[in-house]
Amino acid sequence: MTDTDIKKGLAGVVADTTAISKVNPETNSLLYRGYPVQELASTQSFEAVAYLLWNGDLPDETQLAQLRATERAYRHLPAEVRAAIDLVPLDAHPMDEVRTALSLIGAKDLAGTGSVLDVSGSTEENLARSVRLFAVLPAIVAYGQRRRRGQQPVEPRDDLDYAANFLWMTFGEESDAVVVDAFNRSMILYAEHSFNASTFTARVIASTLSDLYSAVVGAVGALKGPLHGGANEAVLHIFDEIGSAENVGPWLDEALAQKRKIMGFGHRVYKRGDSRVPTMKAALDTLVEHYDRPDVAALYDTLESEFVGRKGIYPNLDYPSGPAYNLIGFDTLTFTPLFVAARVTGWTAHIMEQLGSNALIRPLSAYNGPDERHIDGYVPDAAALEAAERAEEPVA
Ligand SMILES: CC(C)(COP(=O)(O)OP(=O)(O)OC[C@H]1O[C@@H](n2cnc3c(N)ncnc32)[C@H](O)[C@@H]1OP(=O)(O)O)[C@@H](O)C(=O)NCCC(=O)NCCS
Repeated sequence: MTDTDIKKGLAGVVADTTAISKVNPETNSLLYRGYPVQELASTQSFEAVAYLLWNGDLPDETQLAQLRATERAYRHLPAEVRAAIDLVPLDAHPMDEVRTALSLIGAKDLAGTGSVLDVSGSTEENLARSVRLFAVLPAIVAYGQRRRRGQQPVEPRDDLDYAANFLWMTFGEESDAVVVDAFNRSMILYAEHSFNASTFTARVIASTLSDLYSAVVGAVGALKGPLHGGANEAVLHIFDEIGSAENVGPWLDEALAQKRKIMGFGHRVYKRGDSRVPTMKAALDTLVEHYDRPDVAALYDTLESEFVGRKGIYPNLDYPSGPAYNLIGFDTLTFTPLFVAARVTGWTAHIMEQLGSNALIRPLSAYNGPDERHIDGYVPDAAALEAAERAEEPVA
């Protein structure tokens, strides 16, 4: 194996087929089950898109009503999950809360399974588990933000759809329609993105025939990192550092001199712009107008034009979604958990797809450590000699 055979970071490696989404950097497009994500974000509810990702087609009215009924039935935060979240230190990152809560939900659901041989589950079981995780995540995320603010939890409302209820449980008041719409769009845009790091993590775990919950918990860990889901949170830290549009130039001079990565820009796959950005930027614009915050738009536009002008690196989805979530009222620490609530739909669709035609994911590595060496005074025993002899034999 030569150095050129090694694909560091698996860059450019096609690891499997998928029918769930298609990322085409050449045409700057992203399709979910064939539909452009921009069309879905403009016309569909997040519930309908979740159904599409799991089942392959958009739901008819009855199917959507059934999904919504199940989603409403599992919106409540179980008392023991709330108690588990309360054990997580208040100054731990909320992604640790989410990971802990999902892990407990999985352990409870799989209790009594008996053997690790039967944990991967049938498609029906995994679809039901996926819907339940999708339904309960808003309660987990909303409770996390409220507890950090010293507020009591808010019970879900059965008369509200997913996005409106999510905002209700977080803020304890009904949000305006433009806010609900912008939030719904963001959830759709974040729902799925082929073999990104967290989805691939979920598929690796599923490929061992472990359970869906373990795969989702692993994906949460992968999403936490600032090179992946943590970037939307990092964008707000950058905005806070810069302060206002007129500081962008000097701030950028210094950041680039220090070779800092500017969070919210760049993408492993899209090199000429992230296809989701214009849709999310339009949603951000409606929020800027709604909350009358032209200063946010000025900072956003100035940093974008300065950075693109200097480096030719374009914004990714985290760039507009960070300030959008901030305007809605989410704490910066809550941004990545919001990403979990959206991406759980894509993760679980991929877990089921992986299990549908499974092959254990196990790549090779090129060893570059010390040459073979031995412990002074070691005398090989018979078993070691036999193993060494067998290694010399040609493979049949
Ligand atoms: C997303 C990301 C990890 C993609 O990484 P990648 O495809 O491996 O690209 P690289 O990190 O190798 O970057 C290639 C070059 O562009 C530069 N670059 C890429 N993104 C940059 C950014 N956001 N700020 C400054 N420079 C950046 C790199 O420093 C590198 O320059 P070099 O060739 O002089 O060393 C990277 O763009 C990044 O770290 N972005 C910031 C984090 C972020 O927003 N993540 C969310 C992704 S959806």
